[in-house]
Amino acid sequence: MSIFAGLEAAPNDPIFHLTDQFNQDTDPRKVNLGVGVYQDDNGKVPLLKSVETVQRRMAEDPDPWTYLPMRGWEPFNEAAQKLVFGADSEPVASGRVATVQSLSGTGALLLGADLYHHQVAPDAGMIASGPTWANHHSLFRYAGYETGTYRYYDDAGQGIDFEAMLADIRAADPGTVVLLHACCHNPTGYDLSPEQWGPLAEVLADRGLAPFVDLAYEGFSHGLEEDAGMVRAFASAGLSFLVASSFSKNMAMYGGRTGAIHAVCADADEAARVKTQLARTVRSLYSNAPFQGATIAATILTDPDLRAGWEGEVAGMRMRIAGMRAALLGALEAEGVEDMGFITRQTGMFSFSGLSRDEMVRLRNEFHVYGLDNGRLCMAALNSRNVDHVATSIAAVHKR
Ligand SMILES: Cc1ncc(COP(=O)(O)O)c(C=O)c1O
Repeated sequence: MSIFAGLEAAPNDPIFHLTDQFNQDTDPRKVNLGVGVYQDDNGKVPLLKSVETVQRRMAEDPDPWTYLPMRGWEPFNEAAQKLVFGADSEPVASGRVATVQSLSGTGALLLGADLYHHQVAPDAGMIASGPTWANHHSLFRYAGYETGTYRYYDDAGQGIDFEAMLADIRAADPGTVVLLHACCHNPTGYDLSPEQWGPLAEVLADRGLAPFVDLAYEGFSHGLEEDAGMVRAFASAGLSFLVASSFSKNMAMYGGRTGAIHAVCADADEAARVKTQLARTVRSLYSNAPFQGATIAATILTDPDLRAGWEGEVAGMRMRIAGMRAALLGALEAEGVEDMGFITRQTGMFSFSGLSRDEMVRLRNEFHVYGLDNGRLCMAALNSRNVDHVATSIAAVHKR
């Protein structure tokens, strides 16, 4: 009798399942707008020039595969911290941010969730926006939290119901983790405005809550500096909080699993203690992070030429997505669809299209256009060859 005999198969992950279905589809018109991966106009995940340059250098002068420290590679931690908080910022200069290398954004969320649950507030729950990236709930539940939702998306107003959001956050128990998207909200594409960060910070501070900012898409909304604005506003407001940052999207290093967890503390002494706890968490979960992605990211961030090239590449990806949003909207309007103007008001990789589950199923079955059942479509997978087919398909299922 096997020790696993009683184990049932895990439910399908909706996004990866959709990709499997897409891969089996033999229709030449097929388009995968399901997964959150940026593709270039040829429908390929790009290898950024900046990344390729460092990869080549590493191949020419290879390092041995030694272990990194538990806290990760320190030059990477420093560079990642400066990118998020600003190179000359007070939190960086004062040393009150504890930064530890992570397995991308997901790993950073897990490290933060684990640290807070085990070392700070074992009974605290977590609340996230309604809706949010599905893995937020799975990950925090796995880490031992009860999770809940604060109101966010306002279907009627095609935006955010900020008053309802503040009311729900105000009602949370002190100590609750409040998960926030820094930019490029996944799945809605609607972000808080800079004017809303201050009132939100006030509620978070007044109620003694534990903000956790997910910064998975820095550079994909307005720019590398602008997209870190919420984090910087919270730091200036004197909050203590966590930030998960990632190089999956903005360096197109999805498989590199490169990111960082940052804990913003009261002072350098506190940060030093927190850093040892984060490092201990790494040790218990997987011992230490891989060095390749961290070496690539740190080299790009600290070499002025590579950095300038990379910033241009990030701007190029951001502008291509914005261009595709405009092209899709134009093509939809040409097809007589008049209620989707929000496509160009949303930012980042995704559009919450408002299409119903039935419409999404028809898109998939009749037109070979794959998006999530909740209506989320990945704008970063549109290109000049598929955008018209996507528009005519949406028009066919959605004519009002
Ligand atoms: C909102 C959000 N957070 C975090 C992640 C984590 O990505 P990664 O672990 O590759 O950084 C994603 C990925 O799609 C995401 O959409």
